[in-house]
Amino acid sequence: MQLSGKTILVTGGTDGIGRELIRQLKAKGANIITSGRNPERVAATQAEGFEVIAADLSTPAGIDALIAGVAGRALDILVNNAGAGSDHDFREGPPDLADNDACLYLNVNAPVHLITRLMPVLRARPEAMIVNVTSGLAIAPRAGGPIYCATKAALRSYTQALRVQLEGTNIHVLEALPPVVETKMTAGRGNRKMSAPDCAAAFVRAMEANAEEANVGMVKLLKLVHSLSPALARKIMIRF
Ligand SMILES: NC(=O)c1ccc[n+]([C@@H]2O[C@H](COP(=O)([O-])OP(=O)(O)OC[C@H]3O[C@@H](n4cnc5c(N)ncnc54)[C@H](OP(=O)(O)O)[C@@H]3O)[C@@H](O)[C@H]2O)c1
Repeated sequence: MQLSGKTILVTGGTDGIGRELIRQLKAKGANIITSGRNPERVAATQAEGFEVIAADLSTPAGIDALIAGVAGRALDILVNNAGAGSDHDFREGPPDLADNDACLYLNVNAPVHLITRLMPVLRARPEAMIVNVTSGLAIAPRAGGPIYCATKAALRSYTQALRVQLEGTNIHVLEALPPVVETKMTAGRGNRKMSAPDCAAAFVRAMEANAEEANVGMVKLLKLVHSLSPALARKIMIRF
């Protein structure tokens, strides 16, 4: 898809991969609307010249605020990028269920609600796209993030079914699967992380190519291993 002139809503564009993505999409000539939650990061993104809607997408009220903020706008592309982790280990104590629930809502309910409520807007455009950001961990989980991995596997499964339902319509469905990327989400974890600009650039290439999946960096290798032996892929990833 040609991105120049398209109006694109990217959730979670105030930091990390999303912030790099909105910069690169703007450089392609797209009109960007983004969202974030932290007031300082919202203000900093606005100071860069972006339209930012403040909304906590782990709550129904936040979804309503974002939908109200884009009402009447002719959106061509929705990028469900906002996401967060919720690591816990039962061997160390019980999880914080409120934190688990917020992660489930942000990573699964928010994309599902936004897609459902913005579907009529996207259907009205000559060509449109839905981009769901999942993770390599949607293919095989790591033990330390059971809820996060479950949310990304759920969104991957939803995305694959949605793609079939929208076949032959004006809406293309892309799943973007990042590897470990250097952002605040992965602070203090892992090494050999991909940079957020490189990850965002891979998303942009996949959007331009109308790809079904952006398997970014090491995720390509993980998918290959998984296609040969799902058990081996799980073994490699579970202690990651
Ligand atoms: N980093 C990785 O290694 C990695 C790997 C695989 C997949 N991913 C996925 O890539 C996406 C981006 O991750 P990232 O690493 O760039 O994360 P990040 O640096 O933590 O940035 C997350 C963005 O989402 C927003 N956000 C977080 N919680 C929110 C909430 N409750 N309501 C509204 N907005 C919220 C943040 O805004 P505030 O700062 O204002 O909260 C920020 O703009 C996520 O879906 C993540 O699961 C990341």
